[in-house]
Amino acid sequence: MYNLRGKTILIGITGGIAAYKICELIRMFKRQNANVKVIATPNALNFITKLTLQNLSQNDVAVEEFDVKDYKPEHISLADEADIFVIAPATANTISKLANGICDNLLTSVACAYKKTIILAPAMNCNMWGNKIIQENLTKLSGLNYQILQPESGFLACGYDGKGRLCSLDKIFDATVNSLFASQPLKGKKILITAGGTIEDIDPVRYISNYSSGKMGFALAKTARELGAEVTLISTVAHDNAIIVKSAIEMQNEVLKHLETQDAVFMAAAVADFRVKNTAEQKIKKIDDTEEITLTLVKNPDILKTICDLHPTAKIIGFCAESENLLENAHSKIQRKGCDYLIANDISRKDIGFGADENEVHILSADGKIEKIEKASKEIIAKEIFKRIWSINMN
Ligand code: CTP
Repeated sequence: MYNLRGKTILIGITGGIAAYKICELIRMFKRQNANVKVIATPNALNFITKLTLQNLSQNDVAVEEFDVKDYKPEHISLADEADIFVIAPATANTISKLANGICDNLLTSVACAYKKTIILAPAMNCNMWGNKIIQENLTKLSGLNYQILQPESGFLACGYDGKGRLCSLDKIFDATVNSLFASQPLKGKKILITAGGTIEDIDPVRYISNYSSGKMGFALAKTARELGAEVTLISTVAHDNAIIVKSAIEMQNEVLKHLETQDAVFMAAAVADFRVKNTAEQKIKKIDDTEEITLTLVKNPDILKTICDLHPTAKIIGFCAESENLLENAHSKIQRKGCDYLIANDISRKDIGFGADENEVHILSADGKIEKIEKASKEIIAKEIFKRIWSINMN
């Protein structure tokens, strides 16, 4: 049993009789919760209907290059979205087009734009399989981002007995899953991430909080999961699989509950430094002859500092948003907090940080090193942070 939730598997079907077998392959991936998208060549639809593929994959099936539904060029958006591309069955014709960069239908265009792994499962008549041109084309592809699954020998639909039958669906399934998990350098690691701004109640209808949207924490959680980590997300803002908390005290309690087993903690939440001393149980009423009221605030626990003291072997990563003297403040903060890394960003800029989809950060290490990550989407920034902290090579 694999959990393929969150993975998008793109299946390309070309025009061979083995196309009918791909119905079962789609079901195998769906059973493991994968998001399955299908591209069929026009010839594939002579063997199998679009309706069948749509029903099994629970997604639209793409066929023609100009089936464009929105502004995105489909061959690029499908290529960007898929975690892996499986072409099965791959006919001699499609193999030869792929090997020569010919993009005359949606499937070949997507393959040309696709940079991650393509699992290619050929199926054809044994004499076609034996043809030197086809073998040369396959050799060319296997030197690129293609993993070729050899066809099997046996009785072929064309009446011949020989090599050319589509390999077993189990083989295609295993090769796909193995390839998906091979790109998971953080597999086995447990990572805790906090996100959002804490909410400190004044009374039942009012509170003190901040502008944090939680987006940086969510981008970190998504990337960590893609890299194979087991993620615990503690957030003040609702999000997939998040443990929801409200105040700094609640956040600290939840963090401490999970701390011991973690390999790393990312404190991306904007934790309020102070909370209201005596939260009113009933709504505070406006009193007509009173022009001022005073709220007394008391200090919240410093969660980051506390966990650095409690769990010295985990990698602890703090975040700091500064409106002035970014690096100077960040320097003294990493020392004060005692964390391994501090991710610093400048909130005086409106185009990055709080609430924005993009960020630009500096990573400070406890040993005094500083690295800058140039402005990019929070997803790209998250990937760069993992790459640099764990020295991972990935594209
Ligand atoms: N943090 C925390 N607990 C707090 C305050 C902050 O765990 N009570 C964490 C934040 O999650 C962040 C880091 O500490 O990872 C830095 O937060 P920041 O607000 O910049 O630091 P402060 O210590 O509050 O310093 P100041 O507000 O004075 O800049």
